[in-house]
Amino acid sequence: MSDGISRRELLTGAAALAATALTGAPARLLAATDDWRVDLTPPGAATAERMLGVPFATHETVRIAIVGTGLRGRSVLSEFLAIEGVKITALCDVVEDKARRAAAMVTKAGQPEPALYTNGDRDFERLVQRNDIDFVYTATPWNWHTPVSLAAMRAGKHVGSEVAIAMTIDDCWELVETSEKTRRHCLMMENCCYGNSELSVLQMVRQGVFGTLLHAEAAYLHDLRSILFEDKDEGLWRRLPHTQRNANFYPTHGLGPVAQYLGIHRGDRFDYMVSMASPEAGLSEWREQKVAKDNPKWQEKYKAGDVNSSLVRTAMGRTILLQHDVVNPRPYSRLNNLQGSKAIFNDYPPRLYIDGAAGGEKWTPLAEFGKKYEHPLWTAVGDLARKNGGHGGMDFVMAYRLVQCMREGLAPDFDVYDAVAWSAPFPLSEESARKGSQPIRFPDFTRGAWRSTAAQPGAKVGT
Ligand SMILES: NC(=O)c1ccc[n+]([C@@H]2O[C@H](COP(=O)([O-])OP(=O)(O)OC[C@H]3O[C@@H](n4cnc5c(N)ncnc54)[C@H](O)[C@@H]3O)[C@@H](O)[C@H]2O)c1
Repeated sequence: MSDGISRRELLTGAAALAATALTGAPARLLAATDDWRVDLTPPGAATAERMLGVPFATHETVRIAIVGTGLRGRSVLSEFLAIEGVKITALCDVVEDKARRAAAMVTKAGQPEPALYTNGDRDFERLVQRNDIDFVYTATPWNWHTPVSLAAMRAGKHVGSEVAIAMTIDDCWELVETSEKTRRHCLMMENCCYGNSELSVLQMVRQGVFGTLLHAEAAYLHDLRSILFEDKDEGLWRRLPHTQRNANFYPTHGLGPVAQYLGIHRGDRFDYMVSMASPEAGLSEWREQKVAKDNPKWQEKYKAGDVNSSLVRTAMGRTILLQHDVVNPRPYSRLNNLQGSKAIFNDYPPRLYIDGAAGGEKWTPLAEFGKKYEHPLWTAVGDLARKNGGHGGMDFVMAYRLVQCMREGLAPDFDVYDAVAWSAPFPLSEESARKGSQPIRFPDFTRGAWRSTAAQPGAKVGT
């Protein structure tokens, strides 16, 4: 590797750390735990029933199937093809041409032709029965994430879903119960958890830079108007929820990293949320300007308010602002802000202010700290990530880390409880907004196991 750290060294160190964490008395593994004022009461035999901190078996080769080979499925495929020890064995899409395009990428990378499943929208049920798959990755439209994940686990495969993994609380519970019953991991592949800025903030949290963590801000603020009105790709399905529900449809890109900063399910959990939505204007006004009056899109009525703003309160009393807007003009942002008693971080652009810093109350760009807070994963594979990876490299780091965990037999960085808790604001924000912004409780998907870090492999990411 160009940075002088061999892959083997990285993996060995990671495995050693994880092994210590799983066998020892790990109550004080995180340097910043005391600052977080986490209740460290051990949960007893939580891991016997739960899927917290459960390591993968070791896989010399990780055999992956992808369901949904559209824009995202092919992008993820290109990341996996760039990592040694991965074999793509099967692909599935309702559009045969898309599956064939993905298959061509696999053979071009020197791997054998994968099996194709293109026979209708339930053909993934046949795919998951194969005996040459370790991990199923679903990059379908949202409504298929839960059905594909359930089918994969029931057929004995670990599964990773694109975001969000579920759109109802009932589906969240079914995913939890199925993961626990089958002892298969059900992960939501939240790539933003692996961003360079996000992992740097996590490092700062661990080093105690922020002091007591108090408040965070998370969002998905992205002008998708032209994409939503296209007659291809996401334009075929992603406008539909706006006609059906009034909610924060896409909470996880902002919330996943923030949940990791706050140690959610590692001593804290989301307790309740309140939500309200602005009026609708973005889609209607875009259609008025851009869409011919005889187009069937004029039959649509947009039910979702444009700017959904929610506040989440955690069991430890921390607060999180959570926003969503994909239909108005604005530069991209996931907010990604964190306030502690000793420092504050704001993203877009990434900048830090530490109490008492020379020069007074002014932001210092994160870049000026050099490698001081760089996460070890980025130190190890950052160059490769920047070269190979989508979204500034975070997608490569995510794929690399999953393969690392499966090859070395480590516990994954997140689990089924994280997947559903980060997705739950979709239905919970809808319910709160409908009830005049009443507080709505999050279910405790861990059933008490969130209280302890004892079942965890030490640091959540990068150990
Ligand atoms: N993590 C990220 O950064 C990121 C980025 C983009 C999209 N996404 C997510 O990825 C998912 C896919 O988005 P996309 O942009 O690739 O959309 P897309 O429309 O380009 O691709 C979806 C694909 O799924 C296929 N499909 C639909 N129903 C299917 C079924 N029942 N079985 C098999 N295939 C089916 C479609 O034919 C299509 O090829 C969405 O959940 C989206 O929110 C995540």
